Amino acid sequence: MVTRQSWAEPWKVKVVEHLTMTTHAERKAAIADAGYNTFLLPSRLVYIDLLTDSGTSAMSDRQWAGMMIGDEAYAGSENYYHLERTVQSIYGYRHLIPTHQGRGAENILSQICIRKGDVVPGNMYFTTTKLHQELAGGRFTDVIIDEAHDSESEFPFKGNVDLNKLQRVIDEVGVDRIPYLSLETNVNMAGGQPCSLENIEQTCALCHKHGIKVILDATRAVENSYFIKYREPAQQDKSLGEILRAICDCTDGCTMSAKKDSLVNIGGFLALNDDELADQARNLVVVYEGLQTYGGMAGRDMEALAIGIRESVHLDHMHSRIGQVEYLGHKLIEAGIPVVRPIGGHGVFLDAAKFLPHIQRDQFPAQTLTAALYLDSGVRSMERGAVSAGRDSKTGENLFPSLELVRLTIPRRVYTQAHMDVTAESIISVYNQRDQIKGLRFTYEPKYLRFFQARFDPVD
Ligand code: F0G
Repeated sequence: MVTRQSWAEPWKVKVVEHLTMTTHAERKAAIADAGYNTFLLPSRLVYIDLLTDSGTSAMSDRQWAGMMIGDEAYAGSENYYHLERTVQSIYGYRHLIPTHQGRGAENILSQICIRKGDVVPGNMYFTTTKLHQELAGGRFTDVIIDEAHDSESEFPFKGNVDLNKLQRVIDEVGVDRIPYLSLETNVNMAGGQPCSLENIEQTCALCHKHGIKVILDATRAVENSYFIKYREPAQQDKSLGEILRAICDCTDGCTMSAKKDSLVNIGGFLALNDDELADQARNLVVVYEGLQTYGGMAGRDMEALAIGIRESVHLDHMHSRIGQVEYLGHKLIEAGIPVVRPIGGHGVFLDAAKFLPHIQRDQFPAQTLTAALYLDSGVRSMERGAVSAGRDSKTGENLFPSLELVRLTIPRRVYTQAHMDVTAESIISVYNQRDQIKGLRFTYEPKYLRFFQARFDPVD
């Protein structure tokens, strides 16, 4: 294994953004006004914002310089061609269809590939990915390994596909009803857990043997490549870029939320190798996103993205990015806080079911914990449990996934080690008072992706 040195950041700060400090009374009023949903808090009332790593990264001076050479032409922007060349060279796919963000790509992919009654296997669901599959008439089925559902398992590749489960789905449903396998890297809902390259290759080989396409969710594929380098002995001499290419080369295309790995505040794409599918996607992108040479992004956004993609595969960058997340995670582990292990790539995930064992699942321990943490210190986190899972599309019953988590998601290149220390102190303080915390019940529940807009009240 490669030895790791300190993770100190390979950059220095050029511009600062001031944060607001609030009082306990202000936060008590704010979280009640927000219906105990951290998504509904105004960001000016948030001190350390760990809601998401999506679109929250700090861009580099080079990316900002790139913004100045935005070619804002409706058609054929120069920045599109730069982005296309960059995606072709770093990710390796032939066709690039830009979209405003990841779910734009998921919508187009689902519409061109899924027919009513189809089944899409994947290594754990992601909220928007699964919803687009369902809206297109399909059904998601989970083929991730069992270890992914156990927050205490130290297995190094908890994102892996279980090949036996996948084979069973193929046998039961039949290849004609499986338009593609959706393969996520650094599986978000499992706690940012990676797949091994060996497993990715075996999964693709099994699918391709049956003529089933594999579409990568490449949102955090570079972070996954980092874990492969350090945890998969056969890959330790490869660069992040080489590992990333090895992942992409065995798949048939990808959807991408560039707001994560690629260090931009907005953007995404669909990339495909198949000429005919790419034509269909280009035709639909003009319906939903914009012309095929901008897909909802400004020229300057595409330039920043092209530069961000190149920065994302630098080892020093990824070393400090993952190092910072692990720093927070290990501080919490040392204090005896229940967290998903091993520490994931984009955040630390608190095991809310173990943190608040006295709160029943139907009173949403993870949602409750996000509100308690905000109240304590102004740290904003996100629920990733039953509220996120929503209801069964057939029975309408609440889904209770095995993991009931709170995500402390670390934006890239934004916060310091001291911010991580303050966050850890607040979590420890909430843990010490956990017996006094009461659960929540819905007062408003929207139909789609309810976690974004739902409102709650404390249960008496
Ligand atoms: N796939 C994964 C794995 C994601 O994490 C996300 C977004 C998407 C697709 C959708 O991309 O937001 O650009 O439309 N995840 C964000 C998060 C929202 O906070 O985890 P998008």
